[in-house]
Amino acid sequence: MEKPAIAGGTPVRDTKLYYGHQFVDQADVKAVEEVLTSDYLTCGPKVEALEQKLCALTGAAYAVACSNGTAALHIAAMAAGVGAGDELVTTPITFAASANCALYCGARPVFADINPNTYNISPESVRKNLSEKTKAVVAVDFTGQAVPLEELLELCHENGLVLIEDGAHSIGTKYKGRPVGSIADMTTFSFHPVKTVTGGEGGAVLTNRKNLYEKLLLCRSHGITKDAPQYVHESHGPWYHEQIDLGYNYRITDIQCALILSQLDKLGQFAERRREIVNRYNEAFSQIPQLFVQQEIPESDTTRHLYILRIKPELLTIDRKGFFEAMAAENICCNVHYIPVYWHPYYERLGYPKGLCPNAEKLYMEMMSLPIYYSLTDQDVEDVIMAVRKIVAYYQK
Ligand SMILES: Cc1ncc(COP(=O)(O)O)c(C=O)c1O
Repeated sequence: MEKPAIAGGTPVRDTKLYYGHQFVDQADVKAVEEVLTSDYLTCGPKVEALEQKLCALTGAAYAVACSNGTAALHIAAMAAGVGAGDELVTTPITFAASANCALYCGARPVFADINPNTYNISPESVRKNLSEKTKAVVAVDFTGQAVPLEELLELCHENGLVLIEDGAHSIGTKYKGRPVGSIADMTTFSFHPVKTVTGGEGGAVLTNRKNLYEKLLLCRSHGITKDAPQYVHESHGPWYHEQIDLGYNYRITDIQCALILSQLDKLGQFAERRREIVNRYNEAFSQIPQLFVQQEIPESDTTRHLYILRIKPELLTIDRKGFFEAMAAENICCNVHYIPVYWHPYYERLGYPKGLCPNAEKLYMEMMSLPIYYSLTDQDVEDVIMAVRKIVAYYQK
């Protein structure tokens, strides 16, 4: 007889546990309140303060704060010179924005496969996917673990390409002792509420290169400059400014920046708790033969954003969908990060076939994201582990 869709019995928990949640304390509330009664709601001192704090945190020379991580990727691609007819290589195991930034510029995203153990983009696959048209590589620190930055930088620079590190998951991570943000040509961050540090919405691009910084500033604000040496014409007076290129309104408010600044004060404790949760999950799941544990990258001192549970379907009588539903029946609400970008109908219509990146597609069929966030209690973590054990025990072959 077929086994039922859930492991049955009393659920491990009687309240629902979600895969991510922001942590906002009184210091955050106070920081936002102060801005609300100040002179500036946007384009004020908090924007510059955030940019300075991001530089201090990462060691990058320049930071440009902007409205969200997607805008950050867009202006990074523009600053990299990605334009009509160009190609940009990225991973399919990411949020669509990492590839969409190429489309926004009139370029074509090209998908390189992932390393089957770390799930980050594979430099060998990047190399195979380079062409005369390639202008940039967007490498995503998936789950927070840094991509092989030295290898990718060498690969990019020997081919005249710009390396954009999508650090939406990896604020606080260090690669070989150096913080992400100071290593790639440009690094982007996101401050969406499920990320380690939030501003409600928000983003930033970090770079050490002044020429890229200047382009990023223009792209963020309509292509308008108030920097006299950049003027084409003579200034008309103190109010003068010029639009010298086409940019966007990707500004971030002082309200958001105040929240992000206050959240950054807690980055150390956020990172620590996330690390504890990863260690506990890894310890528990590495003893279960029906599961595959994501390889920890030794060069990466990681602030973890996501925890991926990967099943070995050949050792179970259910597939990922069944496992996901069984977890929900235990009141553990997982998520899946990510559907391979080129599987989305929009990309299908652009002509991307299935089968492009076999490692990425196999991972997608076997994975789900477990709860991980700062305020998850030890009991919550044990509940997740108990639910996983219960489901594996029930459905093992
Ligand atoms: C890997 C990755 N890149 C880019 C983004 C886009 O960031 P945002 O949601 O702030 O636009 C996200 C966030 O969802 C992400 O996870």
